[in-house]
Amino acid sequence: MNEVKFFFNQTGGERIPLEMHKAKMVQRLHLLPVDERQAAIENAGFNTFLLKNRDVFLDMLTDSGVNAMSDEQYAALLRADDSYAGSETFYRLEAELSKMFGKKYFLPAHQGRACEHILAKTLVKPGQAVIMNFHFTTTKAHITLLGGKVIELLTDEGLKVESDIAFKGDMDIEKLKSTVQALGKENIAFIRVEAGTNLIGGQPVSVKNMREVSQICKANGITSVFDASLLSDNLYFIKTREQGYENTEISDITREIASLFDIVYFSARKLGCVRGGGILTSNDELHIAMRELVTLYEGFLTYGGMSVKEMEALAVGLREALDFNVIEQTPIFVEALTNELRKFGVPTVLPAGGLGCHIDAKRFLEHIPQSEYPAGALAAAIYLVGGIRGMERGTLSEQRNDDGSEHFAEMELVRLALPKRVFTLSHIKFVADRVAWLYRNRHLIGGLEFVDEPSILRFFFGRLRAKNDWHIRLAEAFKRDFGESL
Ligand SMILES: Cc1ncc(COP(=O)(O)O)c(C=O)c1O
Repeated sequence: MNEVKFFFNQTGGERIPLEMHKAKMVQRLHLLPVDERQAAIENAGFNTFLLKNRDVFLDMLTDSGVNAMSDEQYAALLRADDSYAGSETFYRLEAELSKMFGKKYFLPAHQGRACEHILAKTLVKPGQAVIMNFHFTTTKAHITLLGGKVIELLTDEGLKVESDIAFKGDMDIEKLKSTVQALGKENIAFIRVEAGTNLIGGQPVSVKNMREVSQICKANGITSVFDASLLSDNLYFIKTREQGYENTEISDITREIASLFDIVYFSARKLGCVRGGGILTSNDELHIAMRELVTLYEGFLTYGGMSVKEMEALAVGLREALDFNVIEQTPIFVEALTNELRKFGVPTVLPAGGLGCHIDAKRFLEHIPQSEYPAGALAAAIYLVGGIRGMERGTLSEQRNDDGSEHFAEMELVRLALPKRVFTLSHIKFVADRVAWLYRNRHLIGGLEFVDEPSILRFFFGRLRAKNDWHIRLAEAFKRDFGESL
């Protein structure tokens, strides 16, 4: 039942992923000619977030809120009980979450960062640290906005772009022990585990590691928080990579993980394939403190800023997130894209993780210094050559240091996200082909500089320009090789 869905073709013995679903509804796509793509990326300030979707062929920006919902989820939309307070939909969702995570309370919120806002406001005092395996952009922004600071304690191996370690998202337990001792519990707001990790290649965290983190939190009386936004890929990796879990049900692994943490929160734009979020806890005091903020910032406690239709679909999406045949789909497609790219020598994060394929822009563009945002430049160039919209996950996605200097990212990555059940194998082959062409012509790509730099979450809406108009020369080279072909 839990066999990973690949088949080997008869001619070449090539390992090919197999979709365990079919398309029932489709959306038309357009691939603009290269001159128009060049104009579009220029107008977007070389920031793929600012491209209009009508100008994008393959939208691999993110999986957030754009995963394909199942027919069962669409059917559930119609069941929604649309009342401001006491909606039946809320109780159905609450029951599903309680079965899944085993926590007493559920607080809905409009998306993951809304949960982070509430958590930070409840737990973080100025000057306190929040320790985590690795940060996510919005998590860090909420903590620092309240005067807290983020300390990342990923293992050294986790920061190597290429490795054969199965759980590169693990926290370094020895460093955690010494940091807790050095800071003292009163200076630590909470300890957070993100599984899988977003900014370092969708790398998973083992249950063993989470258990050790949990023990340290308990021994020191520190609140433990689990970010479950990317849980479904992480569950796949636990099941297929962690010793001792081969025969454990996905639902049992999920409950075991949740039992290790005081608070579990998630973006339902990712987990459950809808648009929303939620916080779970069994702690009475924390629940009371947080629920006031939910009503203030999100909405009444039985909808928390979510549409009830989405809540109804979420209850179904969460059940599906415990089905191995469903959760294996993203990781096997990420692996397929990673393998295709590596056939052409393109440097990527290894092992392939969840969420999307991560290209190593530092090695791809060795001639561009981090101060000129190589991952941003590569994301813009990938759009230019293929109408493919990826996301910069490097220095542009970092906040500046307090003194205004650049905070250079540990890794300079371009993420080509694979929203669940959206793209086909021919899309994967097309992406690999265009990126391979770009890799052969990488010397044509130059750096970027800011024209308009917002002070918070600058990667979302900051505008940049190409140093020395390299994009024009890149488009000319493309036309020489591809002629009239798009
Ligand atoms: C690990 C993680 N945490 C939190 C968030 C924030 O969730 P949202 O985008 O719903 O605000 C994300 C979103 O990408 C995420 O990947």
